[in-house]
Amino acid sequence: MNGNSAFEAKIMEMKEQKKISLELLDYILHSATEEERETLYRIARETSQAVFGKNVYLRGLIEFTNYCRNDCFYCGIRAGNRNVSRYRLSPEEILQCCDKGAELGFRTFVLQGGEDPYYSDDRICEIVRAIKKKHPDHAITLSIGEKSYESYKRYFEAGAERYLLRHETANEEHYALLHPASLSGAHRKQCLRDLKKIGYQVGCGIMVGTPHQTTEHIYEDILFMQDLMPHMIGIGPFLAHKDTPFRDEPDGSAEETISLLAILRILFPKVLLPATTALGTADSLGREKGILAGANVIMPNLSPSNVRDKYLLYDGKICTGEEAAECNSCLRARMAKIGYTVVDVRGDHPDFSSAETAGNNVTKPTEEGIS
Ligand code: 5AD
Ligand code: FES
Repeated sequence: MNGNSAFEAKIMEMKEQKKISLELLDYILHSATEEERETLYRIARETSQAVFGKNVYLRGLIEFTNYCRNDCFYCGIRAGNRNVSRYRLSPEEILQCCDKGAELGFRTFVLQGGEDPYYSDDRICEIVRAIKKKHPDHAITLSIGEKSYESYKRYFEAGAERYLLRHETANEEHYALLHPASLSGAHRKQCLRDLKKIGYQVGCGIMVGTPHQTTEHIYEDILFMQDLMPHMIGIGPFLAHKDTPFRDEPDGSAEETISLLAILRILFPKVLLPATTALGTADSLGREKGILAGANVIMPNLSPSNVRDKYLLYDGKICTGEEAAECNSCLRARMAKIGYTVVDVRGDHPDFSSAETAGNNVTKPTEEGIS
């Protein structure tokens, strides 16, 4: 590209038109110079700060079951992995995690697990209601995979307000190279549309650098997201797990992930965008770099420490030896170090937030970049 100012003009055009070409996407991911990437990150950071200020939202992640009936080729807790020591948290244990999280200032609990039939709809609703009863001011996010419209509706009526279901890849041929034949990209996307229709704040997302992924696929992902208009987008690098069919595949790149975060922030100024644990695993400063490239959410682990090393979707996962309190103070310090503040609010999507959650505790958006 013809110098940094030409590059900056292209990014500003993308920001104004909310559109990116396949060519520009490919250039950013594979050919941009360091100076150009810094320009991209700055514009993404400014876009994020105009909406969220220098505030970071926390989501306490409770990994409540590592049983899963599926056999996704990339995932460490796939049904076929006999080396996993399986566990389930009881409703009481889940509530204890929430109590701990509430004490630490978290206002969102994310209940994540494999697709575990033991947790029937009745059980999930019971757990959601129990959490809501004890913590009525807290948001509950579910991340428990593909269910029927009726099931999603029941969870919503029980009090779950948000749902995370990464679409993994919008391209259905690519989807089939990452999943067994029992799963389909079409059904995955239908689930996301169902969730939106019911009224959830919905999160989709992908891994960067999965086997067989091309730039065209990522371009399709962006088009899919522009059509779905999710409230959250979760992206992280693919990281190989030793007990999966993808054990010998190369890891996705932290740098490409950060560039994609920046692109997504510019295209979706109001979206909730986590700097993920996988990014923090691929690069020890990955979460900080993600925030400085436009992300605004961090999802510290609230799972009891005795089960953490059993919920390994990929090798090398960080924070498996830490207590919730340690991750909490570690992350607040890490954010402070880069000039950002963790705020103890629910952190709804701007279109969903009441005056209270949007106004209180939130430092004013700033025009200037980060010093
Ligand atoms: N590397 C990185 N991310 C992974 N996930 C699952 N397995 C891996 C892996 N090996 C992601 C998927 C899933 C989310 C919960 O974690 O995108 O949707
Ligand atoms: Fe867990 Fe730093 S976030 S120890």
